[in-house]
Amino acid sequence: MTSIEQRIAQLRDEINYHAYRYYTLDDPIISDAEYDRLMNELRALEEAHPELITPDSPTQRVGAPPLDQFEKVIHPVPMTSLGNAFNDDDMRAWLTRIGRLLPEGVTTSDLTFVVEPKFDGLAVALTYENGVLVRGATRGNGIEGEDVTANLRTVKSIPLRIPVSPDGSAELAEVGPSPPARIEVRGEVYMPIAAFNELNRRQAEKGEKLYANPRNAAAGAVRQLDSRITARRPLAFFAYAIGYVEGGEEIRSQWEALDYLRRLGFPVSPDVRRSRDFDEVLDLIHRWMERRDSLPYEADGVVVKVDDFALQELLGVVGNAPRWAIAYKFPAREATTRLLKIEVNVGRTGVLTPYAVLKPVNIGGVTVRQASLHNFEDLARKDIREGDTVVVKRAGDVIPQVVKPILELRPPDSKPYQLPDRCPSCGEPVVKPEDEVAVYCVNAACPAQLVRRVEYFVSRGAMDIEGFGVKIAEQLIRAGLIRDVADIYYLTRDQLLSLEGFAEKKADNLLAAIEASKSQPLERVVTALGIRGVGSVVAKMLVAAFPSMDTLANATVEELEAIEGIGPHIAQSVVDWFSRPRHRQVIEKLRRAGVRMEAEVTAAPPSARPLAGLTFVITGTLPTMTRDEAKAFIEAHGGKVTSSVSKKTDYLLLGENPGSKLAKAQSLGIKIINEEELKEMVGG
Ligand code: IVH
Repeated sequence: MTSIEQRIAQLRDEINYHAYRYYTLDDPIISDAEYDRLMNELRALEEAHPELITPDSPTQRVGAPPLDQFEKVIHPVPMTSLGNAFNDDDMRAWLTRIGRLLPEGVTTSDLTFVVEPKFDGLAVALTYENGVLVRGATRGNGIEGEDVTANLRTVKSIPLRIPVSPDGSAELAEVGPSPPARIEVRGEVYMPIAAFNELNRRQAEKGEKLYANPRNAAAGAVRQLDSRITARRPLAFFAYAIGYVEGGEEIRSQWEALDYLRRLGFPVSPDVRRSRDFDEVLDLIHRWMERRDSLPYEADGVVVKVDDFALQELLGVVGNAPRWAIAYKFPAREATTRLLKIEVNVGRTGVLTPYAVLKPVNIGGVTVRQASLHNFEDLARKDIREGDTVVVKRAGDVIPQVVKPILELRPPDSKPYQLPDRCPSCGEPVVKPEDEVAVYCVNAACPAQLVRRVEYFVSRGAMDIEGFGVKIAEQLIRAGLIRDVADIYYLTRDQLLSLEGFAEKKADNLLAAIEASKSQPLERVVTALGIRGVGSVVAKMLVAAFPSMDTLANATVEELEAIEGIGPHIAQSVVDWFSRPRHRQVIEKLRRAGVRMEAEVTAAPPSARPLAGLTFVITGTLPTMTRDEAKAFIEAHGGKVTSSVSKKTDYLLLGENPGSKLAKAQSLGIKIINEEELKEMVGG
């Protein structure tokens, strides 16, 4: 080997190892910059010596020129499917069936089971020869699949070479058994939910079609003829079985197989369990079902496998499903129902958004009566109509959504939905700006907008008036007692007592809460005004630069833009807001009521560091920043970055292909933001 060949081999090992730390363990030990430096050095060497490029080089993860079609692949060992169970009785029946087939002297109580998530993605088989990935195939019909090697090479957590090569560190000694002569590793390619949401957000932004769910997005990406497109999709992989192996360690059970795969450097779910007790297996399944919504990936069930390979062999396969395994399927998260009516909601800024009123339907244990229709453009593109039978999806904590109409079931007399030309609340004509998707009601006196504005004004992040909910806002507005947010401070006890449901105690408590809010700091008052683009973080920055309402109200676009982190859009929005005579009147009314109009004088100099006091953790690959850049960015704005998620973490900054930190953050209820939202926090 020449010294160049040696250096190339060394770089590949190091990069593969660090990619493994990053993508599989979510525990990198070098900075992104250092990683990039290694990669650049390797790329430069390969460019100078193209004859030394090999398919297992980490530089080859970017994809190859497009194919005309995929080659067919016959699986040496068929890829079976799984029998299903839908409840505990089905599971017990399965156990009884197995029991009858066990040899003399062995009973079901002697069995050990492995319980694994049933990943909802696309099954693939990866073949490694002497440790090098030589082929990746889809399951296809189980006998014959498609050769998608070029695509699977782009999936960052699929090792191109196994075992992931030692760099001399102690952890690595554990990782590296010697590679078997040949091994076929089976598992699931999937798209993490956060990455899926981010992908769809970007699709929507570009006006392109949205993916129905993470599984379709993953399957579509794997079956792309142009692997360079696959490379840009945030795919990940979990290994769950060995198809066959020649050479290497002797493996006698599923549990050992998973352990072996993990030591070779494959991602194996940290959520797999082993149990000897069938009641415990059922318990695990129930717990899984409850946790389903908090997983960072989609699981459509739990797979239970008899652990012992000798018993697996004995139990055998019936049809195309093994007797020794079963999938307990979770209830579906999609359902079809009738869309009774399309209604329109009016937001605080006057934006009109459509939503669907549904014939109530149970989806995964929750009764759904309404679902989001996103916006009028999406509604028109999907041609969703009143009276349609529609597919409704509910995933995780997100609001249920209408996915699509079922055209075959459309009533013959149905008519396309007509965009409203008047606001459903005030009846004034609506406006659709040329360059926007949104449709607005621009009537400043529109009651629906006023409800939203009041709701926002009194909310926790703004004036924080306790006990003042939407119901009360609606009641006061309907009674004509509130015409703008400042009227809140002129409510009298008698007025409140005249309202339905207001006894003396309730009226007094509300008045006291309103009174108390007068001493909220100026930045909260500025937030509460609901100026477009001005949330609590921007408000803080504005007040730091302009410590009184009057100076802020008279600031020019140029002065505002000079504040670090304030861009031209926000600057313009602030100036526009204060230029309206109505808004000036509201400010005067607030001032007369005794609401704070000056910043508190504090000992510390006013700082424009909007992230001060906040702790961030970063996981995954961010769209435009490296981790080091993100860290520097957060620190420059006063925040702190730590490496692991704990109760003290304020935000998880989430990129593509996140690791276990996401699940941890979700389980602790920590706020999760993307790069763009981070930038918004500092007003950029
Ligand atoms: S084992 C007998 N384990 O489920 C073994 N399959 O119907 C067959 N799947 O498309 C596979 N998670 O891709 C196994 N932990 C898991 C799985 C799993 C998801 C999928 C698999 C296949 C389907 C089988």
